[in-house]
Amino acid sequence: MTQAREPESAALIEAAKLAREFAIAPFSRFQVGAALRTEGGGTFSGCNIENATYGLTVCAERVALWKALSEGAHSFTEIAIITNTHDLTPPCGACRQLLWEFCGDIRVVLANLEGRSETLTLGELFPRAFDVKNLGDKR
Ligand code: THU
Repeated sequence: MTQAREPESAALIEAAKLAREFAIAPFSRFQVGAALRTEGGGTFSGCNIENATYGLTVCAERVALWKALSEGAHSFTEIAIITNTHDLTPPCGACRQLLWEFCGDIRVVLANLEGRSETLTLGELFPRAFDVKNLGDKR
């Protein structure tokens, strides 16, 4: 377990924590916050948003990513993800795929409300990912 000591990681965790407050999670009661740091130092945050279909739920990570991409941000360095659990929560498989495609091998800071955190790379969490390189000349 490593601590996210860098000040920028602490600020990103704080942004994710604030976003988590807006989570719409009446079905799972599992509130997640995420904050994505751009190369230029900007921050885009998101929370999970559930709805009555269940299946159309969007994870906090993807809300942050869609917000960033839809506002023209394209280069990212780090994402922080926070939940109120003792064991730190890693991004789901769908989010790992999309973070890999749009952010590449960024740092992933997992945090909880107890103040614990761990920093990994997306490549560690998502080795041998399928991406555009696998399409070769088929695109
Ligand atoms: N969730 C996220 O927002 N991010 C994750 O990485 C894991 C799961 C949300 C989706 C759903 O609203 C709730 O947590 C339970 O799965």
